Amino acid sequence: MAARLSVLARGLMWKVAVVGSGFIGSTIASVLASKGCDVDAIDVNERLISAFRHGERPIKEPGLGELSEQQMASGRLRFSCDFSRVAEASVVLITVGTPLAEDFTPDVSHIRAATESVAPYLHDGQLVMVKSTVPPGVTRSLVADRLRQSADVLVAFSPERLAEGNALRELQSLPIVVGGIDAASNAAAESFWRQTLGVDVIVVSSPEAAEMVKLANNLWIDLNIALAHELAKLCDALPHDLDVLEVIAGANSLKKGQHYVNILTPSNGVGGYCLTKDPWFVHALGARHGADLLTPQTSRAVNAGMPAYCASQIAQWARRQDRVLSDLRLAVLGLAFKTNSGDVRLTPVMPLLDALHSEGFRTVEIHDPMVRKEDADGWGVALNPSMDDTLRDADGVIFLVGHDDFKTLSPQRIASLAAPGALVYDGRRYFNRDEIGELQTLGLAYKGVGR
Ligand SMILES: NC(=O)c1ccc[n+]([C@@H]2O[C@H](COP(=O)([O-])OP(=O)(O)OC[C@H]3O[C@@H](n4cnc5c(N)ncnc54)[C@H](O)[C@@H]3O)[C@@H](O)[C@H]2O)c1
Repeated sequence: MAARLSVLARGLMWKVAVVGSGFIGSTIASVLASKGCDVDAIDVNERLISAFRHGERPIKEPGLGELSEQQMASGRLRFSCDFSRVAEASVVLITVGTPLAEDFTPDVSHIRAATESVAPYLHDGQLVMVKSTVPPGVTRSLVADRLRQSADVLVAFSPERLAEGNALRELQSLPIVVGGIDAASNAAAESFWRQTLGVDVIVVSSPEAAEMVKLANNLWIDLNIALAHELAKLCDALPHDLDVLEVIAGANSLKKGQHYVNILTPSNGVGGYCLTKDPWFVHALGARHGADLLTPQTSRAVNAGMPAYCASQIAQWARRQDRVLSDLRLAVLGLAFKTNSGDVRLTPVMPLLDALHSEGFRTVEIHDPMVRKEDADGWGVALNPSMDDTLRDADGVIFLVGHDDFKTLSPQRIASLAAPGALVYDGRRYFNRDEIGELQTLGLAYKGVGR
């Protein structure tokens, strides 16, 4: 065991294979290469690999396209579909997808397939680390038990906790949790992250504990946002002039135990690949083991209801003006599921557009400079490439993400483009009180989520 560890720890240049080169895999591969590692990023998706190789920047994340191109040019990063590259690596990271199956249980078939694909190329002493989000037990039963039939490998789980839109910075600053199947796996995993990323590493007692950490994090986030959403709905419903952001800021000044209350921010909904599925992973896990968990279903129900709630608020405003909804023109700013990201996976904007249609709106122009045309096409959405044209003569300007580009839209510019008296609906732009005052002085109406 000691000999295996010394092989790993002495490596001045780590050779890494990243299996699964989607959002997480390509981000980790590019950052590790930038830290001096020699990295093979491998995927079964030939189109994706070809897009990386041809500089098409298939993953829209700030800074990622530039970084991966620099690292490919330096020779430290290669994209391929060639699993035999795993044989050269001292560390193999598994970053394939773990989608939700139709019955709302985790689909770990990609993990199983990736494990089978790497098994023939492994040799004793390599470290295999799972980064995909999985239910507790998968790293041990599906990955370690299988791979150790092929070679005497070290195996660990290390949850990936970075958030899209800020991925490069978060990967290099967030503490990393690892849980190995034995002490040698723990030591190898810890020294790998410390030496490559230089971040704090928290070693937990087992892969199962590390797997639970990720689920606990995402359950907390989804539930916390649901709380913010319900507070926002209450602020909307009460007959007082309440701003939920002011309420939350006040509430967050309370220290409880070691930490301050930290209620997150409400918006037009929660989307993306993690928060929409991981609470269901937790729910399925409880159900399978006889624990009837109520919070995952609750947070999912509250957050999934926000797009329809926001559409109804917009429709209410129009009806109060005695406007015929089908005559109105709406400008929607944002298709991505979150601010400063181009990712449209499970974006809450799609159900919101459907809900606007159900309410009776018929003319909706959509602009999102972060989203690739082909990704929007995948949703059947034709993006308007011009922000000004999108806003021109709009009766409602609907902010559904807070991209930096949209922050440059001043109240004056909105007023100069939109129709007189238009509604500015603030799903996520978070206009401050002065800006809201300016919008109103310029003759526009303002409505936010809980504001
Ligand atoms: N996206 C996020 O913000 C985020 C954050 C934290 C954790 N995660 C977790 O990380 C994992 C990956 O997420 P993602 O957003 O990168 O997903 P993704 O869909 O962007 O990427 C997954 C990649 O794996 C590839 N793949 C599938 N089967 C494969 C196989 N057998 N061999 C090799 N490659 C294979 C797919 O082609 C795809 O490119 C998931 O478990 C997710 O829950 C994601």
